[in-house]
Amino acid sequence: MSNSFRYDESWASIYEKYTSLVGRISEADEAAAFLERFSSGRSALELGIGNGRVAVPLSERDVKVEGIDNSVSMLKLLATRTDLIKAWKGDIANFKSEQRYDLVYCVYGTLTLLFTREEQIACLRSAAAALDEEGVVVIEMRVPALDGFVRCQRTTTTLVDQDNTFVGAEIHDPIKQNVISTLLWFSDASVKRLTERIRYVYPQELDTMAECVGLELAERWGDWARGAFTDVSKRHISVYRRTSL
Ligand SMILES: C[S@@+](CC[C@H](N)C(=O)[O-])C[C@H]1O[C@@H](n2cnc3c(N)ncnc32)[C@H](O)[C@@H]1O
Repeated sequence: MSNSFRYDESWASIYEKYTSLVGRISEADEAAAFLERFSSGRSALELGIGNGRVAVPLSERDVKVEGIDNSVSMLKLLATRTDLIKAWKGDIANFKSEQRYDLVYCVYGTLTLLFTREEQIACLRSAAAALDEEGVVVIEMRVPALDGFVRCQRTTTTLVDQDNTFVGAEIHDPIKQNVISTLLWFSDASVKRLTERIRYVYPQELDTMAECVGLELAERWGDWARGAFTDVSKRHISVYRRTSL
């Protein structure tokens, strides 16, 4: 995978503030409560653990959480928060785990940061292989929203408050299902530029990819409070079990 879209220091230095502004910190405990339900043997592996936004509250619920991330900067943030979570540098598109877990989870659209179909399937395959007999894989991602693109380009303002303005500039590649985005974050006299590349996936395609690696959909929700997933949901939380033979 190209290094240019890694979560390097530029993301790590603003991650806490950014996730707070977009409402992701306030929902982390609810996410942990949702995930705890699937950790009966109290072991979990997070793919793309980042700074432990969700892993830390989950570990505070007595679940032994481990994690993988390919960003040293993000792993450093995690290490400053806790020493209870074992996390290592690795690529979630290609990992092998000796250990088996009740729960393997990948949240906040992290699966879409693998920007080829092959890498996404490989990640799901590794996740399935890391499950114990009754284990589940939980994936949280956005429902693709492609309205507003003109000639494969879109500019949106996603947040304005007294101190901050977020302007997003995106380029769409419909063949690869890729969106490359730049967030321009204006605050006071400064502007930060943060880039990301994703391969978006519709819920049914995710189910098909999961089926390819021996998983089947068990539950799908619209939010961490287990609100219904509907045709207007902006994201989904999907729970997969091993396919019953
Ligand atoms: C959107 S952040 C989510 C972080 C954390 N899971 C959360 O919910 O706040 C995505 C994380 O995935 C990591 N990541 C992206 N691609 C990865 C890959 N191929 N292998 C391992 N980690 C990856 C990034 O470094 C980053 O920490």
